[in-house]
Amino acid sequence: MDIETLKNTLLQRVGKSKTPNEVLKAPEFRELYAKIPKLAPEERGSFGRQVNEIKQAVEAAIQAREAELEESNVRPIDVTAPFDVNAKQPVLLPSENGTIHPLMQEIQLVSDIFNRMGFVTEESREIDDQYHMFETLNFPKGHPARDDYDTFMTVETDKDGDPLIAPAHTSTMQVRSLIKYRSNLARGESIAAIVPDRVFRNEDLDARHEHTFYQVEGVYVAKGVNVGNLVATLQAFLEEYYGRELKTRINPFYFPFTEPSFEFSLECPFCEDGCSVCSGSKWIELLGCGMIHPNVLKAAGIDSNEYTGFAFGCGIDRLVMMKYGIEDIRHLESGKINFLRQF
Ligand code: FA5
Repeated sequence: MDIETLKNTLLQRVGKSKTPNEVLKAPEFRELYAKIPKLAPEERGSFGRQVNEIKQAVEAAIQAREAELEESNVRPIDVTAPFDVNAKQPVLLPSENGTIHPLMQEIQLVSDIFNRMGFVTEESREIDDQYHMFETLNFPKGHPARDDYDTFMTVETDKDGDPLIAPAHTSTMQVRSLIKYRSNLARGESIAAIVPDRVFRNEDLDARHEHTFYQVEGVYVAKGVNVGNLVATLQAFLEEYYGRELKTRINPFYFPFTEPSFEFSLECPFCEDGCSVCSGSKWIELLGCGMIHPNVLKAAGIDSNEYTGFAFGCGIDRLVMMKYGIEDIRHLESGKINFLRQF
């Protein structure tokens, strides 16, 4: 084989090989190198140059072939990237894909109605101490009614060494609100505040009972406030909220922080003769209320001989259930899209 043909054979081999570098170790090269010392001295120079040329051509071809193989290892991108890397901020879902949760919409409405009646809105907290959960509300240590509020406790303790709690009702905010607005009284104004917020109870769950739900607390204190004012305020609120006249029932009840105390119920909207939602009673209990106990006013530094007031605590989830005919309270915290899309 003449030298030019050998060169082309080697270059073709490089072009087809997956390990082109191996071509440099081909037996043809060994034979060429072995031939050099056997040549006449005057032929060795030009033959050596020709062999060198072949080697350089093969090396250049190896480089090209290796680059080609490297390139073919890169997988083509056939999936469109889900984001624009040049965008300044993440691409957000269109706003019409989300809605405000029905409970939040209704809390806004509840707040709005009370604000128009002259009440200010305060926030509660999700961890509180036993002083605000019990002591300020006239449940001294060891009071049996503490057991009625079966709530969740943390391992952390307050300054008295008692576990902190997830508040079981918004009444924990009564004394705080009274203290905050106490100076209104000296100016001849009333204290009127509501606290719509989340509460927690270690409950047996059913169509009316959740472990996590919302209440709206209300306190009103001035000179000469009486039960008539309490009932009229609640009736006005409920009729404004439901947009119609309502049948309500008021029963005497017991809360350590109000005296007298009552329960306010609405006629069950789900039945005429009793059903599972109202446990066959035809009424659904909506809120607890009463005249603020003198000891609670005292804990807030308000003279109960001069001022009286009322307080109430209403379950917002139940309010909403009855407005929209939601037959099971557990839908509200379920996060089910099919349920939420209806609001
Ligand atoms: C209280 O929580 C008192 N703090 C209310 C109060 C405030 C009385 C101020 C006097 C003065 P009660 O435990 O009854 O009371 O709850 C009040 C309302 O919260 C109930 O009428 C009901 O509407 C709602 N509620 C109570 N437990 C649950 C529950 N597990 N799931 C959903 N709603 C509930």
